[in-house]
Amino acid sequence: MNFTKVLCGTTIAMALGYAGISVAASGADGVTTPIKPAAKDHPLEEVWSGYKYAATDTQAMQDDEFSNPGMAWHDTGQELWSKVEGDAGKSCASCHGDDASSMKGVGARYPILDEKRGKLVNIENRINMCRTENMKAKPWKYDSSQSLGMSIFVKAQSQGMPVNVKVDGAAKPFFDKGKEFYYERRGQLDMACATCHEGYFGQRVRMNTLSQGQSNGFPTYRLKWQKPGSLHRRFSGCNKQVRAKPFKKGSDEYLALELYLAWRGAGLPVETPSVRN
Ligand code: HEC
Ligand code: HEC
Repeated sequence: MNFTKVLCGTTIAMALGYAGISVAASGADGVTTPIKPAAKDHPLEEVWSGYKYAATDTQAMQDDEFSNPGMAWHDTGQELWSKVEGDAGKSCASCHGDDASSMKGVGARYPILDEKRGKLVNIENRINMCRTENMKAKPWKYDSSQSLGMSIFVKAQSQGMPVNVKVDGAAKPFFDKGKEFYYERRGQLDMACATCHEGYFGQRVRMNTLSQGQSNGFPTYRLKWQKPGSLHRRFSGCNKQVRAKPFKKGSDEYLALELYLAWRGAGLPVETPSVRN
């Protein structure tokens, strides 16, 4: 692993702005045209989806519903939607309707603060809360095919809708914690999330182009993983890249980071299931 070397090498000289890739036709903001963040204290002048930095054939794979490999998990989620499980004898459909149109917009505004518990809740957690409390069924393991399938299915109902999370009021301390995490240097390589994703996006790193590390496409199908993965799996991978100890998926640290990251990408369209290298 010689990221530092790569990052400090001649590749950095490549202009920002990014000219190398022809972006597939898609009308969405942050995908063909950058978003100018509304928040005055936003650190980026322009916000771009990771789609922009993906290889052209990867973009094409995402764009075509039939070649998007993440759609197989979407279909798993769709099947599970009406599957009765647990002691209450219910399925998701029993309460939320046969088609999942009741889920439209939900994926764009999560994670949210559950004020009663004083904890952030993301889509993966929210689904499990319904399983344990409303269905009296077992929760799904993080990154199991069921959890991924249902998270993809639920989030896909918001495809194209702009990410819009609440970060003020009671959510503010969680937002601040996530922000702190983002800028904190860690690991043997002593690098923060910001070192790579704010300082060097648009630069080539080996076979890939460094993106802004946005979260709007998650769970994402990664060609390298040969399956989809949660955002927290990605956090864990990025922590390990700098040889820092990852936190647990679903931990308070990663939930706060998830909230902060969603704010950095506010306005980007939900792309789930996105495809990335
Ligand atoms: C017994 C009824 C019941 C069942 C079964 C159920 N839910 Fe729910 N679900 C609810 C209720 C009630 C809420 C809270 C609604 C609210 O917050 O407005 C909710 C909320 C949610 C939310 C958050 C919606 C929002 O607007 O924030 C998601 C996502 C969700 N459920 C997914 C699921 C999934 C997926 C399943 C199946 C695995 C499921 N639910 C099963 C009753 C149920
Ligand atoms: C050493 C550089 C480096 C650091 C530090 C780093 N990442 Fe990454 N990250 C990458 C690379 C390389 C990729 C894959 C290409 C890309 O999308 O940038 C990536 C991808 C991602 C993605 C997926 C983007 C997408 O569109 O699918 C997210 C999200 C992400 N990183 C978040 C983070 C967070 C949060 C941190 C801090 C905990 C972090 N990264 C730290 C190098 C880094």
